[in-house]
Amino acid sequence: MRALSILGSTGSVGLSTLDVVRRNPDGFRVEALTARRSVTDLADQCAEFRPALAVVADPDCAGQLRDELDKRDLSMAIASGVDGLTRAAALPQADTVVAAIVGSAGLLPTLAAAGAGKRVLLANKESAVMAGGLLMESVAGSGATLIPIDSEHNAIFQCLPSAGAVADAGVKRILLTASGGPFLDLAAEDLANVTPEQACAHPNWDMGRKISVDSATMMNKGLEIIEACRLFGVEPERVQVVVHPQSIIHSLVQYRDGSVLAQLGNPDMRTPIAHALAWPDRIESGAEPLDLFEVGRLDFREPDLERFPCLRLAMDAAVAGGNRPIWLNAANEIAVQAFLDGQIPFSAIAALIASVLAECRASNPATLVEIIGADEEARGKSREKLADFAI
Ligand SMILES: NC(=O)c1ccc[n+]([C@@H]2O[C@H](COP(=O)([O-])OP(=O)(O)OC[C@H]3O[C@@H](n4cnc5c(N)ncnc54)[C@H](OP(=O)(O)O)[C@@H]3O)[C@@H](O)[C@H]2O)c1
Repeated sequence: MRALSILGSTGSVGLSTLDVVRRNPDGFRVEALTARRSVTDLADQCAEFRPALAVVADPDCAGQLRDELDKRDLSMAIASGVDGLTRAAALPQADTVVAAIVGSAGLLPTLAAAGAGKRVLLANKESAVMAGGLLMESVAGSGATLIPIDSEHNAIFQCLPSAGAVADAGVKRILLTASGGPFLDLAAEDLANVTPEQACAHPNWDMGRKISVDSATMMNKGLEIIEACRLFGVEPERVQVVVHPQSIIHSLVQYRDGSVLAQLGNPDMRTPIAHALAWPDRIESGAEPLDLFEVGRLDFREPDLERFPCLRLAMDAAVAGGNRPIWLNAANEIAVQAFLDGQIPFSAIAALIASVLAECRASNPATLVEIIGADEEARGKSREKLADFAI
């Protein structure tokens, strides 16, 4: 039986993970659950799954969590803040950590899990974008295992031989599929004025608000290019984005001999989560089986980089490397939050990021301190510039 620590258990990936666990009670037990501020949801999850530790990232919510647990006659340990999150990530009795916190807040806990030699199931792509080199070094140094949950990277993982890296495997290219998001066919002039609600209404996937906006700008695909390079040791030039609106093929690997391997399935995060939880075995996920007759057809298009400038910015950052992906990620997080808060229009997300990146002097942050320093500098610049793009 695997013992799980689920970081971000109240989010979209967290809920899907718990649903898979619920369907496989003999395979998994939950040792730690974490949230930022969703105290009632976290307490309900504690009542159902009885972890040893419950964590709220916001220290102001710790008292409320204790009250909610008391109401349910629960006496598990509680912790808060970044220390609480890293404690959950490195918990001795957990062998598997699901890294499903959104954004850069996931970096330290993900690194803690890797450093503690856990089986790390990675959804938090931002930590791979910010500190992919450090993360992979930590995995190699501690003997941890990293299995991607992001559906595209999980698909690539499944299409690579023996879960290995691309080097020496005869891989020519990785074909990273993209749904194109809710605005794939919206007239260019209408894009500027879309609302957060429209941006968060993804046609195929039900996700948290930040990644939904990233999908709408296609920054999500850009972050995924960088994630793929980091996780599989491949150069950006060998990752091709293929727009595939049905989201049935989750990505492909093209080999030197002409073979192309793909992973298919209905768009349901429980499939990659179940794969990663059970790997190398297979378990029930609850996802509807794929019916190809019902799907009927699969379409593919080239991405339109004029329409989706965030994708071009991310591709350039992937090629430049160094501090550029860190700046890209930081500026994007600030811009997306400002859009969700109604401070800037949709079209300003790319414009703000471009203007922040224009001030990025190239450097090569390698240590955690340097990476966090670069992230903070880029956030500072992004906040300074918000007023220039305000509605
Ligand atoms: N959703 C998907 O289908 C999907 C697919 C592939 C990859 N991913 C990646 O998976 C990650 C999670 O995405 P999601 O859609 O599940 O996000 P989400 O629904 O917004 O959930 C985020 C989770 O992280 C917690 N959290 C938020 N801010 C935090 C902070 N500052 N410190 C600690 N915990 C914090 C939230 O707690 P509260 O509930 O208390 O706010 C929640 O549990 C992202 O990196 C995303 O790119 C998601």
